[in-house]
Amino acid sequence: MFNKDTLEYHYSDRNRLAPLPHLQRQISKTASSMSDIDQKFRLPKRYEGSEPSVWVEYIQLALDHKPLNLGQGFPDYPPPKYITNALIEVASNRNLHQYTRGFGHPRLVQALAKLYSKLIGREINPHTEILTTLGAYEALFSSITGHVDEGDEVIIIEPYFDCYEPMVKYAGGIPRYIALKPKKTDSPVLSSADFVLDKDELQGLFNSKTKVLILNTPNNPLGKVFTRDELTLIADLCKKYNVLCISDEVYEWMVYKPYEHVRIATLPGMWERTITIGSAGKTFSVTGWKLGWAYGPANLMFNLQMIHQNSVYTGCTPIQEATAIAFETELARLGSDESYFVSISKELEPKREFMAKFLQEAGMKPIVPEGGYFMMADWSPLESQVDLNSEKDKYKDYRFTKWMTKNIGLQGIPPTAFYNESHKPLGENFVRYCFIKQDKNLQAAADILRKWKSG
Ligand SMILES: Cc1ncc(COP(=O)(O)O)c(C=O)c1O
Repeated sequence: MFNKDTLEYHYSDRNRLAPLPHLQRQISKTASSMSDIDQKFRLPKRYEGSEPSVWVEYIQLALDHKPLNLGQGFPDYPPPKYITNALIEVASNRNLHQYTRGFGHPRLVQALAKLYSKLIGREINPHTEILTTLGAYEALFSSITGHVDEGDEVIIIEPYFDCYEPMVKYAGGIPRYIALKPKKTDSPVLSSADFVLDKDELQGLFNSKTKVLILNTPNNPLGKVFTRDELTLIADLCKKYNVLCISDEVYEWMVYKPYEHVRIATLPGMWERTITIGSAGKTFSVTGWKLGWAYGPANLMFNLQMIHQNSVYTGCTPIQEATAIAFETELARLGSDESYFVSISKELEPKREFMAKFLQEAGMKPIVPEGGYFMMADWSPLESQVDLNSEKDKYKDYRFTKWMTKNIGLQGIPPTAFYNESHKPLGENFVRYCFIKQDKNLQAAADILRKWKSG
């Protein structure tokens, strides 16, 4: 599909890589050797069907067209000073630049154990019940591949963070999907709380082959924060069918009043069957640090440790030390107004309000999130003003977001990327924008949309 010597390729349409035109002649000249090579070195069977993700494609789109990018999930402003200062302090310490303990840097696992023992209401063993990883991504990978076996069924709630599906498939698992659906659609602004699971549909997915359910609360991209009642329903089914819950809680500190983040591991009988995942990138607004963790009972964590030991072995020492210092600072002021875990939501709330307002003024129907820093919006009322035929993608949200990027200069993410193939139509009328951005950039987005509407 591309020249392996030069690694040059471009996107001809969604998820398809094609050689750049000037390479096509060169490739046909060596066609027989290329096809021999392609034949032998195609993706191994267990990875077949893998395609470049929406992130790979949309980062390139942003580089090519330089829009105002509200697609990417990270702040466009610096993290708090005490966090970067911790890294400066660590970097100047000569003894913190070598390998550290494989399953987690000692100071960091101690800090994580202290924090989550308080939050979960039980003593967490820092050495056997916590694993630190390269981002929450690796924690997800170790949890899924460490527990899912050939033929195991895994329940995935849609819309979902897109890597869950390929990770389950790599492990030989069979994903079974259930979509959050809106209770109502007729008001000009919706809330992520309007999106719910159908109880009977959920019950119908559980059977003796079900091994894992993957939960994400607060959810990306919808921003839904599962209520205690919803979590109790999920927990009861997990207990009834002896199922492991992998709970991705990377946005645990971004929850807007009056909503509350409930950790499913705290529900009766759930600690024994839950692995909870977190991310320093999300917690401290340092996504480039790529540090994550998983915690749960030692017998379940052992499987993750084995995957981690034989793929990554150990994480970055200075990043883990700096994160430990940041956690120690937070532990000393937990629950108070000075805590970043409290102030981050307060900082984000007006941005959320502003985005909902300007999307609505532009003619879209926003879904106001209860948590996280993304907002989905129904753009279909604007369909007549967009030349969807100018793009070739199968799904309308891809065509809408590409057209907007190229013609209006504002980039969002197409949510069909967060649904399995048969449910993709559920995401087609939506776009996902990120609001952890400087006020001036959110204002610029509002101006772009206003100008487009009036022009
Ligand atoms: C729901 C969810 N889980 C996991 C991750 C990965 O986090 P990390 O950057 O720590 O690997 C993300 C990142 O966007 C996410 O949104």
